[in-house]
Amino acid sequence: MARITASVFTSHVPAIGAALDLGKTGEPYWQPVFQGYDFSKQWMKDNKPDVIFLVFNDHATAFSLEMIPTFAIGTAAEYQPADEGWGPRPVPKVVGHPELASHIAQSVIQQDFDLTIVNKMDVDHGLTVPLSLMCGQPQEWPCPVIPFAVNVVQYPVPSGRRCLNLGKAIRRAVESFDQDLNVHIWGTGGMSHQLQGPRAGLINREFDNAFLDRMIDDPESQAAVPHIDYVREAGSEGIELVMWLIARGAMADLAGGPKPTVKHRFYHVPASNTAVGHLILEN
Ligand code: DHB
Ligand code: FE
Repeated sequence: MARITASVFTSHVPAIGAALDLGKTGEPYWQPVFQGYDFSKQWMKDNKPDVIFLVFNDHATAFSLEMIPTFAIGTAAEYQPADEGWGPRPVPKVVGHPELASHIAQSVIQQDFDLTIVNKMDVDHGLTVPLSLMCGQPQEWPCPVIPFAVNVVQYPVPSGRRCLNLGKAIRRAVESFDQDLNVHIWGTGGMSHQLQGPRAGLINREFDNAFLDRMIDDPESQAAVPHIDYVREAGSEGIELVMWLIARGAMADLAGGPKPTVKHRFYHVPASNTAVGHLILEN
């Protein structure tokens, strides 16, 4: 049986990808950001998963205003890094896991979540920057990845409650797959940031750290927080944080098991226009 052994949560700031790709990680501005992931890169090596189920948001790259799936699961064999205007990032292609992805689609749709099935998609910084932060700059990513895209760009966006419950359904789906696979689930995006309008540049350390606390100890209460609170407190793009609840919902304690162990917690301001937050939880 496949099982979810850990969840990883991280921001996906595009400038972090550019800093890596342009060899700027040692610069004083970036050094403290990347230092926060030193532990994580070693942890990835010591706890190499067979598959990563990676919850992220597309930034009007693969999808546009023409078509906006709320939840989309990637069932393809591979995904190319997207060209977001400066050419594709010089990172490896993402190898998928069509067998497990199709099984999860089957199971989660039968559990009454309407997923869009995606057989062709380029993946933007929302997916590749978290991989870079956790894996560095390898020739190939360490394992197959199932991309799971969530709409947090165009309203209406899914509620925290629905995201947490979706995570629970994904856990049941993984556990009903009859191959022994060690699966990590990642929730990405955030933390507080607003990229436009009079409040551009907004960062809210208090909100972010309370969110990290609740992601560890009380995800059910965080799931009750309405999207308008994220927008008010964490900025218009802070709503990306709602995706973390999908990964958190897949942890054992929400299915009657023990609380997860916190392996790593990191918070840093600023990186580009955002606060960077990061957690590693083990079941
Ligand atoms: C920035 C952050 C994001 O999450 C994003 O998608 C684009 C830009 C930024 O901080 O600049
Ligand atoms: Fe973003």
